[in-house]
Amino acid sequence: MTREEFGDWQTPLDLANAALEVACRESEPPASVLEPTCGEGAFLTAAAARFRRARLVGYEINHAHAERARARLPASRARVEVADFFAVDWEQNVAALPEPILVIGNPPWVTNASLGALGSSNVPRKHNFKRLSGLDARTGKSNFDVSEWMLLRLIEALKGRRATVAVLCKTAVARRVIELTTASIAPGGLWRIDAQRHFDAAVDAVLFVCNVHPSAPGDSRWPVYESLDARAPSSTMAIVGGVAVADSDRHDRTAHLAGTSTPEWRSGLKHDCARVMELERTNDGWMNGMGARVEIEDAMLYPLLKSSDVANGAPRRSRAVIVPQRMLGEDTSLLAQAAPKAWAYLCAHRDLLGARKSSIYRGQPAFAIFGVGPYSFAPWKVAISGLYKRCAFSLVGPLTDRPVMLDDTCYFLPFEAAAPARATFEALSSPLAQDFFAARIFWDAKRPISKAVLQQLDLTALFAELRV
Ligand SMILES: C[S@@+](CC[C@H](N)C(=O)[O-])C[C@H]1O[C@@H](n2cnc3c(N)ncnc32)[C@H](O)[C@@H]1O
Repeated sequence: MTREEFGDWQTPLDLANAALEVACRESEPPASVLEPTCGEGAFLTAAAARFRRARLVGYEINHAHAERARARLPASRARVEVADFFAVDWEQNVAALPEPILVIGNPPWVTNASLGALGSSNVPRKHNFKRLSGLDARTGKSNFDVSEWMLLRLIEALKGRRATVAVLCKTAVARRVIELTTASIAPGGLWRIDAQRHFDAAVDAVLFVCNVHPSAPGDSRWPVYESLDARAPSSTMAIVGGVAVADSDRHDRTAHLAGTSTPEWRSGLKHDCARVMELERTNDGWMNGMGARVEIEDAMLYPLLKSSDVANGAPRRSRAVIVPQRMLGEDTSLLAQAAPKAWAYLCAHRDLLGARKSSIYRGQPAFAIFGVGPYSFAPWKVAISGLYKRCAFSLVGPLTDRPVMLDDTCYFLPFEAAAPARATFEALSSPLAQDFFAARIFWDAKRPISKAVLQQLDLTALFAELRV
């Protein structure tokens, strides 16, 4: 049994007490307290002291933890079972609990992807839990947290009961659970906790509190507090039309700007072979990532900006990328005539380029790249890094008369001329546009800035309001 596989980080008693304090403010005094993956029983111990008559029930997969939990709890009203969460008949067990029920705890913080890497089977048998389509699965949306599965399962089992759920979890997990169960739960709220301090984990985490509700409002508002001690929320997350928005006030103020961006946001070039495709200018000429000198036609090379250049506004003038196609799927064998040095260089590295793992290169011409089209060659661009956690746009003009390429960690809008590019850059940097994105971007997400969120801002509506 590994610690990682079971997300086995026990909650300190003082944190369990503080979380329970908040949960109590949000719910009726419970007749029963359930801790579904109770470990050594920190929450049950805190609840035992606070609710002198409540029935206390815990489940835990690890025998030693369960034994320790039992020893801490009053035997007359506590029961701790050794059980695999995914094998428990929750409907039956929940039916036996007196109301009101408080479900409290700290489900394991581990994703199914890391469990896969650990060769673990600590996952539910039903893999298509959220009925993910094949495409979602391939683009990574199938990577979700074990705690998300557990919360969805518990909320399902609690349907029709008077129950409050209060758990420590990643903020992203709380948000997804709210989105997926919005018709069955009512706020509650989210109280940020310092996961670094308590669990040595560099993630955004919260105490997530919701009330299981027979007819929840659907489009609900969820106050977000900066700490367990905070009495007033710092913002309000909302569900609007089934989708979570980060800040409902800003969302309301900028709703009229929502639409579709024209021009379309694009992502930068994807080639998955930096050591061959990216070159650095030295006193000796162009060098590739393997330290070899490269002779290549200038027309095949374009200045390249990466996320760090875009985010820090300091382009490395000496970096270039080979662009063997002008549009997706273009026949690269034409290069043999048109650019014989580039062709010879790419042929010499056929093995490395042919070994690129991503399935997108299958069935494509040799040396194919992605994220390429007429827009890539637009001389002016307004760009943003998709890796950095800030909404800062950059104006990118040509370098030595060549259009600048962005790598696939960046998004950009293409422009043929400087004036509209500059005007768009200024409009996107305005407080109004910043409010629009602040309402819709969740900074705790792994890649908060996405094409989908950028594409939602109607630039025509933005210009009309700013009168630029
Ligand atoms: C983050 S710890 C929290 C423990 C306890 N709730 C607390 O707050 O101190 C997660 C717990 O879940 C248990 N666990 C992991 N997978 C489980 C499963 N499939 N069924 C039951 N318990 C599980 C682990 O052994 C660990 O004790």
